Amino acid sequence: MIARSLSYGRVAKIFHWTIVVLLALQYLIGWFMPDIHRGMQPGLPMILHVSFGLTILVLIVLRFAWRLTHPVAPESSLSGFQRFSAEGVHWLLYLLVLTTTLSGWAFVSFRGWTMTYFGMLPFPMLSSANPAANRMIDGWHQFSEWALLIVIGLHVGAVLLHVFVYRDGVMQRMLR
Ligand code: HEM
Ligand code: HEM
Repeated sequence: MIARSLSYGRVAKIFHWTIVVLLALQYLIGWFMPDIHRGMQPGLPMILHVSFGLTILVLIVLRFAWRLTHPVAPESSLSGFQRFSAEGVHWLLYLLVLTTTLSGWAFVSFRGWTMTYFGMLPFPMLSSANPAANRMIDGWHQFSEWALLIVIGLHVGAVLLHVFVYRDGVMQRMLR
């Protein structure tokens, strides 16, 4: 059993804020890139979207491994319910980042596109083109990305409550 530290270390904070910035970029690119239509080939916005997406996937897996090996105790002033709900939301955030990135990756793989990672390396695909599977998973990525956004809203809403209503040290834990 690994002992729980009382505060987040530098690595956990760097993971947290890097992923926040990348997710913000990822939503912006996703919403502003051109819609997909029949026979379309991916342009620069899509290459950026899948490249940042794969980066987020790798970072979230590393971060999850870090969290498991470097557990942090909840803030001491939190009630049992607050500890339970915060923990549940944190697990959901990990799960939904995974499902969002994997569903996007499956979508481009089944589409049969050939892509690059930031124009530098061949982008690894999960399968060859499969139009039936592509039709089947159409919509999963959108569902997952909206579910993630809602849970991020709950997470940020709870943090704001701690800052402005409870006025405790929860926000400071992720800052310094
Ligand atoms: C957590 C990371 C990700 C987020 C937040 C995200 C977000 C988005 C958003 C907001 C859209 C616009 C869809 C809409 O109109 O609602 C989109 C579309 C798309 N994304 Fe992602 N994405 C992520 C990861 C990925 C990854 C890793 C890939 C592929 C490797 C990918 C591939 C696509 C594709 C192909 C589309 C257009 C087709 C579709 O709408 O399903 N995404 N994404
Ligand atoms: C501006 C937006 C955000 C703010 C202000 C914020 C703030 C915080 C704070 C203060 C904590 C520490 C809570 C505690 O005491 O345990 C935390 C933890 C956490 N946050 Fe955020 N967060 C934001 C966005 C996000 C996003 C987009 C994700 C999505 C992955 C996320 C995932 C997590 C996770 C998983 C934890 C638990 C600690 C860990 O496992 O690394 N946060 N956040």
